[in-house]
Amino acid sequence: MEKQTPFDKILILDFGSQYTQLIARRIRECQIYSEIHPYDISAERIKSLSPQGIIFSGGPASVYEKNAPHCHPAILRMGIPILGICYGMQLIVQLFDGKVIPSEKREYGKTKLTLDHQGRLFKDLGRGKKQLVVWMSHGDTVKVLPPGFHSIAHSRNTPFAAIEESQKRIYGLQFHPEVVHTQRGLDLIRNFLFHVCRCSRLWTLDSFLEQTCHQLGKRIKTGKVICALSGGVDSTVVALLLHRAIGDRLQCVFVNNGLLRKNEVSQVVNLFRYHFKIPLNYVNAENTFLNELEGVTDPEEKRKKIGKKFISIFEKEAKKSGRVNYLAQGTLYPDVIESVSSKGPSATIKSHHNVGGLPEKMKLKLVEPLRELFKDEVRKLGKILGLPDEIIKRQPFPGPGLAIRIIGEVTPERLDLLREADEIVMQEMARKHFSNRVWQSFAVLLPVKTVGVMGDERTYENVVALRVVGSQDGMTADWVRLPYKILEHLSNRIINEVKGVNRVVYDISSKPPSTIEWE
Ligand code: XMP
Repeated sequence: MEKQTPFDKILILDFGSQYTQLIARRIRECQIYSEIHPYDISAERIKSLSPQGIIFSGGPASVYEKNAPHCHPAILRMGIPILGICYGMQLIVQLFDGKVIPSEKREYGKTKLTLDHQGRLFKDLGRGKKQLVVWMSHGDTVKVLPPGFHSIAHSRNTPFAAIEESQKRIYGLQFHPEVVHTQRGLDLIRNFLFHVCRCSRLWTLDSFLEQTCHQLGKRIKTGKVICALSGGVDSTVVALLLHRAIGDRLQCVFVNNGLLRKNEVSQVVNLFRYHFKIPLNYVNAENTFLNELEGVTDPEEKRKKIGKKFISIFEKEAKKSGRVNYLAQGTLYPDVIESVSSKGPSATIKSHHNVGGLPEKMKLKLVEPLRELFKDEVRKLGKILGLPDEIIKRQPFPGPGLAIRIIGEVTPERLDLLREADEIVMQEMARKHFSNRVWQSFAVLLPVKTVGVMGDERTYENVVALRVVGSQDGMTADWVRLPYKILEHLSNRIINEVKGVNRVVYDISSKPPSTIEWE
């Protein structure tokens, strides 16, 4: 049997929709715990998870196609309430012997929906023939409803835009309640959770914290846990959580690879040693890393050398700590979802965060206390644990640090130069309240020199590029249209204050086809 949580749980079966994670987020916003599973999960597994309800996501396939993804039909007969969204609804119709056909008129985007029957799903969403604007995205439509089902809403082109089988508590929506463009979408999801599934045991981060500390204490009765700190929010929250659970049996290691931003080292050391009073093994390995990087210009070689060196230093420190049995990592829920739609490039991007290869090599067991959480939940948890705002809201920073923002060879002089320019970017973005409105903002040092003139002197100096991007998850990104005033100020300050720079350029490329980092 699966370990039972004290929270009610909703399972989302993923049929490949781009919105699957969004559905899970919305459910958690309603304080109900949700998990995403592949569409072909077995009925036994579902039984062992004992969910209060199941949601079938949308998906790009057509249910009548050969090889279209189908769930296990036994799932429909388990007596668990089900909500099918878009493809999910069409699958329900097909599996209960209704009929789905290609639409004569495809519906994409905002559509007016008329509610015909309130029932449990539309409770309190409006009286009479209430109209709502909803987000449609489908090329197929339900032609014949299965026995026992009836339509509860329609749109101009879709007579069965929402359906129910109230006895079995099975519902279907042809539109997407999870996207912001659907009016009252969250209320509709809430109705499914609280009136159809009758969820009541709420998922809160306070209870998560209490429960996780309790479980960690039970699991890690003896021995030590080692945790590598990066200065970012995830590893910091992992460390605070573990310290609460097992006290000083937690060994935090912070390796200064010489590639960090200005003042970062002192911030991390002060936070742990003096603010939280958590023992910290600070390892200054600046020179080791710089020696390793001497003469290296290839981006992949830089990354590999930095990763390998980090592992060897970390291993050495772990050995010094005595009996270490566990390695703590800040793996988050989006990294572990085994879903159809999340198998994108994110898997490779996120693997950078983990101390790859170490657990097997050192025979360590992994502790990943955040693996059920989304990033914004980690931030909220950080707040509960007393983390200052400047860390909670910190922008992502790559493991190989400034090395991949210095194009060409990394030398101490070039690092110093970039650190100064980067510090000005951080200061100005914060001063203009832009730091938390963008995904990342940083400086990049280019391997070219250009001619300039300062006073009466001709100069021949370095170029700094500014990269400021907006993004939801780092997978795609767009350059931020910063006000000219800010750009002007950034350029003036960098050229005037950073010795060795006489030109600043702004990166106006989106991802794809570019990436956020330059290397
Ligand atoms: P790219 O450059 O691939 O970056 O568009 C996407 C996001 O991932 C971050 N990034 C990294 N993070 N180790 C990390 O921990 C890395 O090696 C690494 N490379 C890129 C990048 O800052 C951006 O947020």
